[in-house]
Amino acid sequence: MKNILVTGGAGFIGSNFVRMLLAQEPDCLIVNLDKLTYAGNLENLAGLMDNPRHKFVKTDICDGTAVEKLIDEYKIEALINFAAESHVDRSITGPKIFIETNVTGTLTLLQAARDKNIKRFLQVSTDEVYGSLGDDGMFTEQTPLAPNSPYSASKAAADHLVAAFAHTWNMDCVITRCSNNYGHYQFPEKMIPLMLNNALNDKALPVYGDGLYVRDWLYVEDHCRAIWKVLTAGKKGEVYNIGGCNEKTNLEVIRIILKSLGKSESLIKHVKDRPGHDRRYAIDASKMMNQLKWKPTVTFEEGIAKTIDWYIKNEKWLTNIVSGNYRKYYDSTYSNR
Ligand code: NAD
Ligand code: DAU
Repeated sequence: MKNILVTGGAGFIGSNFVRMLLAQEPDCLIVNLDKLTYAGNLENLAGLMDNPRHKFVKTDICDGTAVEKLIDEYKIEALINFAAESHVDRSITGPKIFIETNVTGTLTLLQAARDKNIKRFLQVSTDEVYGSLGDDGMFTEQTPLAPNSPYSASKAAADHLVAAFAHTWNMDCVITRCSNNYGHYQFPEKMIPLMLNNALNDKALPVYGDGLYVRDWLYVEDHCRAIWKVLTAGKKGEVYNIGGCNEKTNLEVIRIILKSLGKSESLIKHVKDRPGHDRRYAIDASKMMNQLKWKPTVTFEEGIAKTIDWYIKNEKWLTNIVSGNYRKYYDSTYSNR
């Protein structure tokens, strides 16, 4: 599969994926469809905009006509859907856009992929569709879906639609469900870059509740490699869990960041908890490891050190977002072309 439609490729994981693929697959053409919401940032694609194997198109995944036109124009063989509203807190304060993009948008892409006979549809889902764990156990691909937030409910609805299209129209669809990613280009509303940015500026670090919530952190490049594996070697109709084998409480992660920056733990401030906050996520990724021979390659110690270093060296990227200036980059460098 050489001609690939990537949606949401100006976001955190999508832009890392596009960068990786352009570097490692010299025969691939990537059409990158992104609406450029608040989370989409062309600075994430710096150095890639003039690559002849990368075509960026500013469009909404809910626009079926535009999607079908792109599939025809670029003879698209595979579609990878990263595009989503991705932040749990925003889904609590404003759930409607999560249904529009994550559910209606996925439906629109499925219809286009079916009508245009796309060879493979890969839905980038999340471990949050499984709900929350207690102290023990892990999510396997057989764990029943039990989403708790409007975000995870919208992602679970999309997963059901993907499975329904695969069943009804015998489409070749695969679903990946990954744990928490971290790394460069992550929007600073998410826990790790938010805490990093606040610590760098000696601002309080807002820890929800007791801070003992557990996430399984995976370096973003390992997630991107896993997605490529599933696209190219995964079995039709299958779900693949992806995780870092790296459970940490939020306070553990925050203390590592503070120590690396030489900042005081007195910056930690416990604040009101997230409503309905999932206590623990843990992924059993043995299917990926045994069947597709994938495993995480970057330890948390290495990954967090690289991430901290990147955010320090790319302070302008961070301040452009915090100040809203990243929108001006689009206006001045792209919209005039
Ligand atoms: P992100 O918020 O950084 O990026 C989302 C991208 O989608 C942005 O570029 C945005 O402009 C684009 N987008 C949003 N609505 C759109 C629409 N209607 N049409 C076209 N483009 C649209 O998200 P992310 O963290 O990179 O996550 C990417 C995907 O991976 C999501 O589907 C998310 O559910 C999933 N995921 C994320 C994580 C994580 O830890 N970040 C973990 C597992 C799965
Ligand atoms: O598990 C995969 C999911 O991980 C993805 O599907 C989501 O798109 C992604 O946003 C992420 O969801 P989380 O809610 O786990 O990530 P977030 O970075 O928002 O929060 C991580 C943990 O940190 C969580 O327990 C809430 C806590 N937190 C978060 C913020 C923003 C705080 O304590 N304080 C904060 O200010």
